[in-house]
Amino acid sequence: MGTGKKPSVTHFRKMKQEGRRIVMLTAYDAPTAALAHECGIDILLVGDSLGMAVLGYQSTLQVTLEQSLHHCAAVRRGAPDAFVIGDMPFMTCHSGERDALLHAARYLQEAQCDAVKIEGDAALAPTVERMVHAGIPVMGHVGLLPQHIKTAGGYRISGKTEETAEQILRDAKAMEEAGAFALVLECMPAALAQRLTNELSIPTLGIGAGPHCSGQVQVMHDLLGFFSGFKPKHAKQYADLSAVIRKAFTEYAEEVRNGAFPSEEHSF
Ligand code: KIV
Repeated sequence: MGTGKKPSVTHFRKMKQEGRRIVMLTAYDAPTAALAHECGIDILLVGDSLGMAVLGYQSTLQVTLEQSLHHCAAVRRGAPDAFVIGDMPFMTCHSGERDALLHAARYLQEAQCDAVKIEGDAALAPTVERMVHAGIPVMGHVGLLPQHIKTAGGYRISGKTEETAEQILRDAKAMEEAGAFALVLECMPAALAQRLTNELSIPTLGIGAGPHCSGQVQVMHDLLGFFSGFKPKHAKQYADLSAVIRKAFTEYAEEVRNGAFPSEEHSF
């Protein structure tokens, strides 16, 4: 399986130092993971956006550890040489440090991920430190935290006031000090993301955080135009896959009904 030639966490820090932008994309299954890796995506994130993108949930809160691991393992099988990060779902880091560590370890041992991502503020820094100490690379995630929508009152741009911006800065620095190798910055003013990127030595991956981050991350299904009725402001649609799929499904149904498929070509 694979050639064994894949980047390590130090590679991404070097990319930041050299001013080379890091490209991260979510992936949830083997075939699209293979395509993304083939196209030079630097990091595949098996985000808990899995819940909405693939599993049909209304939010990320319903995603379980087992579901996440199942999809991480599929992504790894599809892209053996990619740098794959498993996104730890809601509550998997909050029921005690021991549980958090054991849950994180499953991403490396069972799903063969290279790292885990954890959403949260400075309160999680000791947990991150224990993970890193145990040999588990951790990517932090600050700003808008989709796992906190119930307490935050919905999906809100974070860091718009001086007070909340300073809080995000403190959270980000706590994550860096705890040993996180990189940080996702989600939905915050571009100027704040720029300040964070300048003040931290670890790379920042922005989503709705402007152009000054060390790299960008997007949800694959937003980028491909999978959901015709839903276009988040921070996402650019590079393809209209829902139209392509609709056309193919409609033609298939028509051809079965009118007898055009299967033709001789598809028969034995
Ligand atoms: O779950 C996810 O896909 C994420 C990215 C949006 C960063 O956390």
